[in-house]
Amino acid sequence: MSFPMVRLRRLRHGETWRRAVRETALSVDDFIYPLFVVGGEGVRNPVASMPGVFQLSVDLIVEEAREVEALGIPGVILFGVPDESDKDAVGSAGYDPDGLVPSAIRAIREAVPDLLVWADVCLCEYTDHGHCGLLTEEGTVDGDASLPLLAQAALAYAKAGAHAVAPSDMMDGRIGAIRTALDDEGLGDVPIISYAAKYASAFYGPFLDVAQSAPAFGDRKGYQMDPANADEALREVELDIGEGADMVMVKPAGPYLDVIFRVKEAFGMPTAAYQVSGEYALIKAGGEKGWVDEERVMMESLLAIKRAGADLILTYFAKDAARVLEGKAGSE
Ligand code: PBG
Ligand code: ZN
Repeated sequence: MSFPMVRLRRLRHGETWRRAVRETALSVDDFIYPLFVVGGEGVRNPVASMPGVFQLSVDLIVEEAREVEALGIPGVILFGVPDESDKDAVGSAGYDPDGLVPSAIRAIREAVPDLLVWADVCLCEYTDHGHCGLLTEEGTVDGDASLPLLAQAALAYAKAGAHAVAPSDMMDGRIGAIRTALDDEGLGDVPIISYAAKYASAFYGPFLDVAQSAPAFGDRKGYQMDPANADEALREVELDIGEGADMVMVKPAGPYLDVIFRVKEAFGMPTAAYQVSGEYALIKAGGEKGWVDEERVMMESLLAIKRAGADLILTYFAKDAARVLEGKAGSE
């Protein structure tokens, strides 16, 4: 059968028809909201390249967590942003049991017990050189030597009460190292969410401001994936599943929808996608300039990530999108 018998427009007339045949729906349940923890009290530092995003001290993170939960968002992911003076060559502040992230985890768990608290695991925020692992004398990144430290960080966060640890470093073998460390310490129930297919992306630009974690020299291309590669993403994901990952992640999200789709198709794993800082900043900037309709572009960008196969979306838009979804639900 073909035109004129077939007319796909028949089911597009009016919002009710469109709703009735809609294949994908965003829900507030799909979102995880990233939070940035700094020291001090009452600190709320805006981030120039990410309007609406703040570095928050532990007391204010708790307030923020309450707001996130009230909006119905299931969880947050925490990043620590230590003072420059607390950084060293081995990222000690990243696995200090009394460090920023463990403190924030404990405070949120106590105040907002039902909100999922994930902890990002990496060294780059804590090393004075800004790389995600230890350096060799030649200045290259030594992944194998970094594994015990990443495992130590994951342990510190899990012991503080994190509902999940999410290694974002991209060192080979880290999922297995973290899994073993958690299991050995009686934390076998703490899931690992692997940033499995993480690309060396220019879309991380604004994050490097908010997390103050830009590498002091070089770049992350020696450990993060080449944006040209997608078959390789499947190999990364397969390895991490084999090492015990409970959920896998693709990052960035919007420019890598094909990778999200393929990962979900190939493994059927719980799959997360991270709509990163640059994706957020571009939409915000376009909206501020009046060049695009920010709200519609936001919702469409999130819907596209979901349609591609993501079960969860880590996004700085989580609160804004939750409000839009809430408004819609109320108007129907
Ligand atoms: C570092 C890390 C980065 C992001 C999350 N963890 C930056 C990088 O790898 O260079 C980026 C997140 C974002 O841009 O929103 N391990
Ligand atoms: Zn890192």
